[in-house]
Amino acid sequence: MDRPQSKVPASPAGRQGPRSEVTDQTATTKKLVIEAKGLTKTYGDGKTRTSVLKGVDLEMAEGEFLTILGPSGSGKSTLMHILGAMDLPSSGQVHLFGQDLKNLSETERSHLRNKKIGFVFQFDSLLPEFTVEENVLMPARIAGEDRKPRALELLRFFGLSRVQHKFPPELSGGEKQRAALVRALLNHPELLLADEPTGNLDKHNTELVLHDLWELSQSKKVAIVLVTHNEQASRFSSRTLHMTDGKLTEAG
Ligand SMILES: Nc1ncnc2c1ncn2[C@@H]1O[C@H](COP(=O)(O)OP(=O)(O)OP(=O)(O)O)[C@@H](O)[C@H]1O
Ligand SMILES: [Mg+2]
Repeated sequence: MDRPQSKVPASPAGRQGPRSEVTDQTATTKKLVIEAKGLTKTYGDGKTRTSVLKGVDLEMAEGEFLTILGPSGSGKSTLMHILGAMDLPSSGQVHLFGQDLKNLSETERSHLRNKKIGFVFQFDSLLPEFTVEENVLMPARIAGEDRKPRALELLRFFGLSRVQHKFPPELSGGEKQRAALVRALLNHPELLLADEPTGNLDKHNTELVLHDLWELSQSKKVAIVLVTHNEQASRFSSRTLHMTDGKLTEAG
C-alpha cells in the first residue's frame, strides 16, 4: 500500500471518477479469474427443498471490480461461498484461475483458497481470544510465512494501528470489518470476495473502504466481488449485477 489513509479525500467526487476511468475490463486480453456457468444450488430435500441459485453465469477478469446487489435471502452469500471454493454447486461449472473446481481435491481447493483468494465473511469471523494483530496474521502463521511488516502496513492503511493490540470484543463493528479486510488482503490475493464489508461503517468510512478497494483493483489488478446492500458501491465498481430469482442479471 503506497498511500496513507489521511490523504484519501472524503468523497470520490473531487478525484478522478472511478467509474469514468474503468474501461471494459471483460476484454478478452485479460486473464479470466472466474468462469462460472449454469450454477445451481439447492438446500434440503423433500418439503424443505429450496432452490437458491437457478443458473448463475459469471465471468470475471483480473482487475475487475464487480458489485452484486440483491434482496436478503436471494443467494448472494451462497454464491460467494461457491466462488471462494468453500462450497460446491449442486450443478454447473466453476473455473477459478482456469482450474475446474470439480477436478480439485479438498486439499487442493484449500491450497487455492490460501494462495489466491481473500475472503471477508458477512458475519464477524475474528477470533475473540486473539488480538487484532494476531487475528490478521493467523492465516500467514498457519502457512508458516512472516507477514508482520505487511500486516502493520495494512493496519496503518485502514486506520487500525491504534487498536492492533486490542481484542475483537473491544472493537467497534466498523473496526472489526476493516480488520477482517486486512486479514483477507494479507497474502496479496488475486481474487477478493467481500460479503457486505461495509455493513457496519458510516458513510465516510464506507467511501474510504470502497475507494481503497477500487484502488486495489486498479493498481494491483485484484479481481473483487463485493456483495452489498449499499447502492453507492456501484459508483466505485466496474460492473453491477443483481441477484434476482436465483440468477445474476445486469443492473438497470
Ligand atoms: N446451509 C443452508 N441450509 C439451508 N438453507 C440455507 C443454507 N444457507 C442458506 N440457506 C438459504 O438459502 C437462501 C439464500 O441465503 P443466502 O445466505 O445466500 O442469502 P443472501 O442473499 O446472502 O442474504 P443476506 O442479504 O440476508 O445476507 C436463504 O433462504 C437461506 O435460508
Ligand atoms: Mg448474505
